Amino acid sequence: MGLEDIYISITEKAALASFHHIGQNNSKQADQAATEAMRSAFKQAPIDGKIVIGEGERDQAPMLYIGEKVGRGEGFPEQDIAVDPLEGTGLCARGEEGSLCVLAAGGKNKLLHAPDVYMDKLACQQKGLSIQNSVSENIQILSKKLNKPVSQLKVAVLKRDRHKNLIQELESLGVDLILFQDGDVLMSLLTCIKGFKESIDLLLGSGGAPEGVLSSAGLRSLGGDFQGKLLWKDSSQKERALKMGLTDPDQIFSRDQLVQEDCIFCATAVTSNPLLKGIQREGDHLVTETLVLSPRYGKNYKVIKNTHLV
Ligand code: FBP
Repeated sequence: MGLEDIYISITEKAALASFHHIGQNNSKQADQAATEAMRSAFKQAPIDGKIVIGEGERDQAPMLYIGEKVGRGEGFPEQDIAVDPLEGTGLCARGEEGSLCVLAAGGKNKLLHAPDVYMDKLACQQKGLSIQNSVSENIQILSKKLNKPVSQLKVAVLKRDRHKNLIQELESLGVDLILFQDGDVLMSLLTCIKGFKESIDLLLGSGGAPEGVLSSAGLRSLGGDFQGKLLWKDSSQKERALKMGLTDPDQIFSRDQLVQEDCIFCATAVTSNPLLKGIQREGDHLVTETLVLSPRYGKNYKVIKNTHLV
């Protein structure tokens, strides 16, 4: 079994555990089920892994906490692992499209150990935009690069009150604005996975920093760009992050600073999304679909469909 297969089976197990929580209106339980299943799958895995992005710091999270060693510690070189056992817990709980079980694994110290704060994000297939530019500058650059009028640029933003000004600005520029409820990892990937009517040109706005590292891992494999800046609620958050090893809290992170080498990235759909079918029941079986990116596949991606006896 190669590393890709091991990691696929881990996100599949988390997704299968979440399946029973789809539409149950309990996001906490859904997340807990995914986390427990992912952790127990890691326990059996012949890897030597360390969680660097997980469910939180050790004192807050009993499972898959930052720094937790996972795997049987044999077979493969040591790896740093970023996980989001259930990305889009609310989507799963509400029975809406887009929830995923995600992980990215790379070499030791190759993934930023991002604290659990917000991150201002820019994700795009094209290079040449900058999170330091004004929104209007980025839109003009992208319009030129894609040779498309601004009105045809699809720009995705998480529907949040904190994005009021950003949304107003994008509306006044006249872009094709896509406001989404949750799940910015998938939305970031959709800037680089074309051919779907839901594909987008640019993602802007803030979301979780851990999700930013996962998005960056995916976009690095797909050849897209990602930039992020950590956003601090107060000075105590900054101090904690400095203690965790961050050197410059105000740094603008490029994609390759967030993720320093190509990773294996797996995302199993719990509920459907434009690229993957959510878990389907077929008789006694449940069928999963997983997006897999790997240095072995270059910039291509695979969708792995597996059938599980339940
Ligand atoms: P969860 O699965 O942890 O709920 O995250 C969903 C999500 O939409 C992420 O994709 C995004 O980065 C983050 O929440 C945004 O956070 P908030 O809901 O606090 O705006």
